[in-house]
Amino acid sequence: MEEIKKTLAGLIKVEGMSKEDIYPLLCVPPDPALGDYSLPCFRLAKTLRKSPVAIAEEVAKSITTLPDGISGVSALNGYLNFTLDKKSAAEKVVKKVLKEKNNYGASAEGAGKTVCIDYSSVNIAKPFHIGHLCTTVLGQSLYRIYEKLGYKCVGINHLGDWGTQFGKLIVAFKKWGDEKTLAERGVKFLTEIYVKYHEEAEKEPSLDDEARAWFKKIEDGDEEALRLFGLFKEITLAEVKKIYDRLHVSFDSYNGEAFYNDKMQPVLDELAEKRLLVESDGAKVVDLSAFNMPPCLLVKADGATLYATRDLAAAFYRKNTYDFYKCLYVVAYQQNLHFAQLFKVLELMGKDWAKDMVHVAFGMVSLEDGAMSTRHGKVVLLEDVLNKAVQKSLDIIKQKSPDLEDKEKVAETVGVGAVVFFAQYNNRIKDMVFSYDKVLNFDGETAPYVQYTAARCKSVIRKVGSYDLLKADFDGISDAESAAVVTDLGKFNEVIRSAAEKYEPCYVARYLVELCKDFNRFYLANRIVNEPDGIKYARAALTEAVGTVIEEGLRILGVETPEKM
Ligand code: ARG
Repeated sequence: MEEIKKTLAGLIKVEGMSKEDIYPLLCVPPDPALGDYSLPCFRLAKTLRKSPVAIAEEVAKSITTLPDGISGVSALNGYLNFTLDKKSAAEKVVKKVLKEKNNYGASAEGAGKTVCIDYSSVNIAKPFHIGHLCTTVLGQSLYRIYEKLGYKCVGINHLGDWGTQFGKLIVAFKKWGDEKTLAERGVKFLTEIYVKYHEEAEKEPSLDDEARAWFKKIEDGDEEALRLFGLFKEITLAEVKKIYDRLHVSFDSYNGEAFYNDKMQPVLDELAEKRLLVESDGAKVVDLSAFNMPPCLLVKADGATLYATRDLAAAFYRKNTYDFYKCLYVVAYQQNLHFAQLFKVLELMGKDWAKDMVHVAFGMVSLEDGAMSTRHGKVVLLEDVLNKAVQKSLDIIKQKSPDLEDKEKVAETVGVGAVVFFAQYNNRIKDMVFSYDKVLNFDGETAPYVQYTAARCKSVIRKVGSYDLLKADFDGISDAESAAVVTDLGKFNEVIRSAAEKYEPCYVARYLVELCKDFNRFYLANRIVNEPDGIKYARAALTEAVGTVIEEGLRILGVETPEKM
């Protein structure tokens, strides 16, 4: 599509303006009946001191021969309108998609640049609840989006594996736990004894002293303390990994908070050297009052470091290790202040790369019945949500396609896909309400709708059998419905680029729904299988191209495409 825009920009000759000046002014008119591209001439009226109507007419007249791919030019109400040759546009795009297959839409603008993406970043011994859904899937999609644009990506699970709570957990485990139950019941068991610890510690404050002592042992590298903590970590990660597999999520690094224990001091030293670290009631802080922010607390009066201290060390580590072009933190908006402080401290330290750090914030998910609370052990586990979505998908599939093979497998793809797609369908900053019926609506703006359309494409191709692209008659896809699909296909790379620029996978999700709607309109308006060969081949080719782009778009979002549905 950009090629066409470039051709048009070169075609339009206006006094005192270059191709480069014209290019950004070209736009797609809202009503395709007016044309496929327009130049709104009122933008030129001032410089040329002529009316837009006169400019449009003069330029239209000056264009005497039309280059390949453009079939008409006209002036209307101060707009210079171009129509594309639908047939040649269709041929071009369809051939390109079929040739490049799942590489279609890729580009190399990111070559040589690295993007670090901190996502999911779960806490050890805590359940994986619905609140982790967005960070996990948005982060992984951004990974695939940047990768598609040629960037090298580093996916980082910044584990929450440090803190006094682990001292408490060891005390609880030694009092009420045993390894057999832990192996059987996993994180659920750890959460239960942790809740029990808090109940008991209210009555028996000496427990907290024990907990502190155990935490100190972890810090000092005591063998038993490390072994128990290692066990909690292993159990948590094994459970979480099962979910990651279902969500098609993976990481290049699991360096969490504990990893930075020995990497904070040099940063604190540099802060002190730069006179940025000030004492406040015995604690060490960076004063941010000049920026309307509370101080960034880095060392407590008792010498303990904090979440922010570790994040600061992690930022340096990432810069030194990966020399990132950008470092993204896909973390809920509740941590807005934390990241604003972190980035500001780096800026005050004179690190020009502070500008390359981005907090990719997102809103909260709640369930229709209002459930969400993470306190008091009452959590909505993501695994339960996935299982229920899969079960409901299976019921729907049994009803809709009783003869389908591998119903369970398809149900897993559809159920999990529905949840994953839902989390990425809206601008990420919005809070959202999860409803099983909505996300599983086969006619809604949902994964099942998109998957169903992809399966329809595959089924058409199966029916057509082998076809010969060389004998395709592209007049068969030059009608308005086909043209809308062709335009969509042509936009794929632009969509991925804007998703990267704004850190919004929802652009890809929304694009896919649009593409499916347009394709289904095409499918309703055009017969395929029983047409003469030339027409049939062209429509089959368009169908296959759509299937390819849907599958690739879904892959980017972490959603699988079933062969049949
Ligand atoms: N573990 C943290 C939490 O659950 C999220 C960590 C995000 N990443 C970071 N580098 N701070 O709240």
